Formats: sequence, C-alpha cells, structure tokens
Amino acid sequence: MAEEKKIRGYGEGKTDTVVSVDEVLKESEKIKAKVSNEDLLSLSNNAKFLEINGLQAGYGKMQILHNFNLFIGKGQSLCLIGPNGAGKSTVLHSIYGFTDIYDGNVIIEDKNVTTLTPADKLKNAGVAYILQDNSVFPDMTVEENLLMGGFIKDNVEQSKVAAEEVLKKYTRLNERRNQKAKNLSGGERRLLEISRALIMNPEILLVDEPSIGLEPKFIDMVFEILGDLQKNEGKTIIMVEQNAKKGLEFADIGYVLVSGETVMADTGDRLLANPEVGKLFLGG
Ligand SMILES: Nc1ncnc2c1ncn2[C@@H]1O[C@H](COP(=O)(O)OP(=O)(O)OP(=O)(O)O)[C@@H](O)[C@H]1O
Ligand SMILES: [Mg+2]
Repeated sequence: MAEEKKIRGYGEGKTDTVVSVDEVLKESEKIKAKVSNEDLLSLSNNAKFLEINGLQAGYGKMQILHNFNLFIGKGQSLCLIGPNGAGKSTVLHSIYGFTDIYDGNVIIEDKNVTTLTPADKLKNAGVAYILQDNSVFPDMTVEENLLMGGFIKDNVEQSKVAAEEVLKKYTRLNERRNQKAKNLSGGERRLLEISRALIMNPEILLVDEPSIGLEPKFIDMVFEILGDLQKNEGKTIIMVEQNAKKGLEFADIGYVLVSGETVMADTGDRLLANPEVGKLFLGG
C-alpha cells in the first residue's frame, strides 16, 4: 500500500531544500563525534558557573538524556539545537527540577543543586524557567501577571517594587499595565513572560523556544531583549531554539543534541558556518 509521504523539516529554505526529519536523524548519527569534556569546558572559558555532569535523566522509566554534560560561564549564552524529540527541553527541565534524575548532577557556583525543587531553584539558586508554551494568565492584567512572578517571595511589597522596576524598563508593558494579558500581541505576551521571570531577579534564565509562533519583527525584539539581559545585566542564558539560525547567531556557545547526546559543540558562530549544521538545521 502506498504510504502518504509527509515531509517535516527544519530551517527556512524552500520546500526542495528542506531535509526530512528521518534524513536529519540519519545524517546526525553520522556526524556524531565524541565531544570531550575538555572541548565543552574550553567553550565556557573554563569558568564554570553552571555545570551538568554525566546526567542520566528522563521521565519515569523513560530515559532521555544519556551521560549529558554542559558547562557555561557567568554571563554567557548557550543554545541547544537538534531534531524534535532530541531531548533539548528535557535538558532545561532537568536543570529546573522537572525530570527524574537517575545519575549525574547539576552544579551552580560549586553548589550541588540537583535535587532542589523548582521552587527552591527559583528562590535560592537564582534560576528562572521561561516556558515554551503560552503561559500568561489571559484574564489577569499585565501588572497582575508580573506580580505572579513573585508569588514565591516572602512579602508582596518586594514583588511590587520588582514589578515597578520591570515596568520602568519595558515601557511597552507599562503602557498596557492595566490591560488584560489576552489583549496583548504575541510579541508583547512573550515580553511579559520574560519580564515575569525577572521579578525574582534570577542569575540564570532557561528559555525554551523564545521565537516560537512569533512574526519576524517580534522574533528580533525578543532576541534583542535577551541580548540586553545578557550583555547589560550579566544574565546567564541557556536556550533551546528551533530557529537554529537565530539561536546560533545569538548564543556564544551552541550544542547540537541528537537522541539525548551532544554530537557537536562549538561557538555559535562556528556552528553557523559549519556546512553540516547548515544542511541539517539551517535549510541549505
Ligand atoms: N513530561 C514528559 N513525560 C514523558 N515523556 C516526555 C515528557 N516530556 C518529553 N517527553 C519525551 O522525551 C523525549 C524528548 O523530548 P523533549 O521535549 O526534550 O524534546 P525536544 O528536543 O525539546 O523536542 P522539540 O524540538 O519537539 O521541542 C520525547 O520522546 C518526548 O516524548
Ligand atoms: Mg522542546
């Protein structure tokens, strides 16, 4: 029986240049090289701020990450790219405490935080996680949404002060502070999601697919905001991005993840210029 051929792919190329998912997996297996910890460490300038060592993690009995390692220095940015289902979001989930960790550890500033709950990660380890999915509360105002970002703080006044700081910085949100979040544009909503995470003044931002579902002009805006947070406020950013071109242009470091393992790692610029990465993830 003839099977309907469905082509799904990556990148921004024309249909005839898009590589199918199966092809990406097959080709990625071929480029799989041993990425050593020394390579990964040197990309972080040997200044470990956050490190993941020998992580074996997954969901219940389903192991997704196999001996995964990651190193990032303070104030650096790192982007994970790779095919659907490779485990990119699972890396962020594991840092934040949403997965089952069977072995290995997550260390932040020499402190082992592997078993901290997400709440403790946010409150005591300076890690904020910005969801892949649309996560604003549609019937709350912009200001109320921001205050929700501080729900874990001991007193509400602190959240109010932090929210005012954020609103002062992002006038676009300030102008809409009393409007319901459901009336915001897609780009404004993403800005609200990012700003809400800033209420806890995190050192490390975990960002899953910041560009997803956004028009090009908003994609640029989101990357500008993240760039400002990294360059001017010294935030350390670990992101996953399906738009590999944007992600690698942005990030200091890029990892290519395939089937729960890192098969390539380099500076963002060098990965962008790598023909194999181009063919598989950048649409030609
Ligand atoms: N909460 C969960 N419970 C069980 N399995 C999960 C859960 N989340 C993800 N998985 C599985 O883990 C594997 C890796 O998923 P993950 O979301 O990390 O991939 P990804 O690289 O982020 O993919 P995508 O590009 O599609 O977002 C997939 O097989 C997925 O089905
Ligand atoms: Mg994902």
